[in-house]
Parts: sequence; structure tokens; C-alpha cells
Amino acid sequence: MAKLLVTGASGFLGWNLCQIAQSAWEVYGTTWTNSIQIPGITTIKLDLRNVEQFTQSFNEIQPDAVIHLAAASKPNYCQTHPDESYQMNVTVSAEIAAWCGEAEIPLVFTSTDLVFDGLNAPYHEGDRVSPICVYGEHKAIAEQKVLQRHPKAVVCRMPLMFGAASPTAGSFLQGFLEALKQGKTLGLFTDEYRSVTSAKTASEGLLLALEQTSGLLHLGGKESISRYDFGLIMAEVFDFPKDLIQPCQQQDVVMSAPRPPNVTLDSSRAYGLGYKPRSLPQELLEL
Ligand SMILES: NC(=O)c1ccc[n+]([C@@H]2O[C@H](COP(=O)([O-])OP(=O)(O)OC[C@H]3O[C@@H](n4cnc5c(N)ncnc54)[C@H](OP(=O)(O)O)[C@@H]3O)[C@@H](O)[C@H]2O)c1
Repeated sequence: MAKLLVTGASGFLGWNLCQIAQSAWEVYGTTWTNSIQIPGITTIKLDLRNVEQFTQSFNEIQPDAVIHLAAASKPNYCQTHPDESYQMNVTVSAEIAAWCGEAEIPLVFTSTDLVFDGLNAPYHEGDRVSPICVYGEHKAIAEQKVLQRHPKAVVCRMPLMFGAASPTAGSFLQGFLEALKQGKTLGLFTDEYRSVTSAKTASEGLLLALEQTSGLLHLGGKESISRYDFGLIMAEVFDFPKDLIQPCQQQDVVMSAPRPPNVTLDSSRAYGLGYKPRSLPQELLEL
């Protein structure tokens, strides 16, 4: 089997991706503060900000392809720690792209729907970026640098994702379900729309992208939905009383990072490659 190196294997998406990728690849996964073991995967504890350290590891592994997921991934944290965000999201991503470009191997880099301001959805790959938070701004800069350093790389813009939790990182779903189990009400935004999908579907899309394309690719889910409507579907699928899901608006919650109202992604290009997100009730039932 060819070797696939996944950065951020201890993260939410990385852990989900490793479960799927190992049927077709010999998978190596990097971890940092959470050095977990994943059955079937060789994990390497590595601070990617240390260029010498990651170069040495990459040279030793000699991967045939890289999926770079490791990131400072929390928009509110990035807003208050912009230097850390820049280093991890921009500098490290550019260095990894340069290494893969020189090695002439395929690279997938994960960006975000938050490179858009949310005022002109749905967004196509060719639309101008217009980030309104530090995280989105840094991902937008990273997109450019990655493609400059490695023009054959794929930059996948990911939507909000939910799914099974890794031993150390979950999605928003876990918090929602825990609150509902305790009989607590959940206030969810009626005025924030995302093309939500599962990490499993997104991982399938990333593997497809790795083999089939280059440049920008949107990997949104099938539906554009508010968090409130997502909550109602979740309550139905997991059999919780729907009145525990209460409507609220972005302005009701104080957050460091500004949030765009509608970053729905048009993912037709990915559909043309064979990317097939399932409906949200189906995805939730599978979980
Ligand atoms: N989750 C979403 O809904 C979503 C939406 C849009 C885009 N994305 C993008 O998708 C990718 C994966 O997101 P995620 O939710 O899986 O993120 P996550 O759960 O926060 O995981 C981040 C990963 O990055 C690693 N990492 C952080 N700093 C590192 C460093 N200095 N050296 C090496 N590794 C480091 C972490 O390792 P340790 O935990 O071991 O420290 C972890 O494995 C990111 O690029 C994110 O921006 C995610």
C-alpha cells in the first residue's frame, strides 16, 4: 500500500479520516499534545511549528501523499491569539506545501467556509474571499501560499462538521447531545447557515480530492441549514423532546470572533468528481 501522512490525526476530523483511509493506504498520523494511539495507524508525536523536526520526520516516512489537517481550528481562540493562529494556520501550512511540492507528491490542505463574509451565499470556488474573522483571514492567506508553493495541491474548503469523537476531540454534536441528555434546553442560532456535513462524508471527499483533482474544492453537505433546524433534526433522530431546542440569534451570544450569517458552499464541482454527501437525518442515524 502507498503511504498517506495525515497531520492532526488526534483531532476530530483527523481521527475520523484515519478510520476510513486505512482501507486503501498505509496511514501515518501526526499528533501533538494529545498523543493517542489509533489501531492500524502509525502515530508520530510532532510539533509541526518546528520545521526541522517535521522535515526530518517527513523525510524518514517518505509519504506518497499528505493530507494536512492540523490547525489552530477554533475561530474564537484564533481571534484572541492571532500570532499563534498565523504560525499554525499560515506558516506551517506553507512549509508543508513547500515540502510536498519539492517531493512532488499530492497534498490536500483543509481550509474553511469562513473565508467568506456570508453575505452572498451560495459560494462557488471562484468567488472572492472576504473573511470577517482572524481564523478565516489566516486560512485565506494559507490557501494562496499553499497553492503558490505547490500548484498541484488541493485546497478543500470544509463546512461545519459533526461526527464521532476522537478520544480527545469531538464536534459540536457531543456537547449538544450531552445537554439534551441532562434535560437542558439548547439555544441555537436561527440566523447562521452552514452546509453542515459529517466528518465521515467529509473524509470521503478529502480522499477523493487527493486522487482526482487540484486547486480549490468545496466539500459542503447536501443541505444548507441553520443550527436551530439542525437541532430539531437531531432531537428527532435521537428521540429528545423538540421543545428543548430553543431559537436564538447570533447577537444573543457574545463571542470573540464575528460570525458570518450564511456561508453555504456550492459543492457542484465536488459532486462532479463523485462526492456524495448523504442527507442529515441519514448521516445522524448512521452515527
Ligand atoms: N471541525 C470543523 O467543523 C471544521 C470546519 C471547517 C474547517 N475545519 C478545518 O479542518 C481541519 C481539522 O479540524 P478539526 O476540527 O479536526 O481540528 P481539531 O480537532 O482542533 O484538531 C487539530 C489538530 O491539530 C493538531 N495540532 C495543533 N497544533 C499543532 C502543532 N503545533 N503541531 C502539530 N499538531 C498540531 C492537534 O494535535 P493535538 O490535539 O495532539 O495537540 C490536532 O490533532 C482544520 O484545518 C480546520 O481548520 C474544521
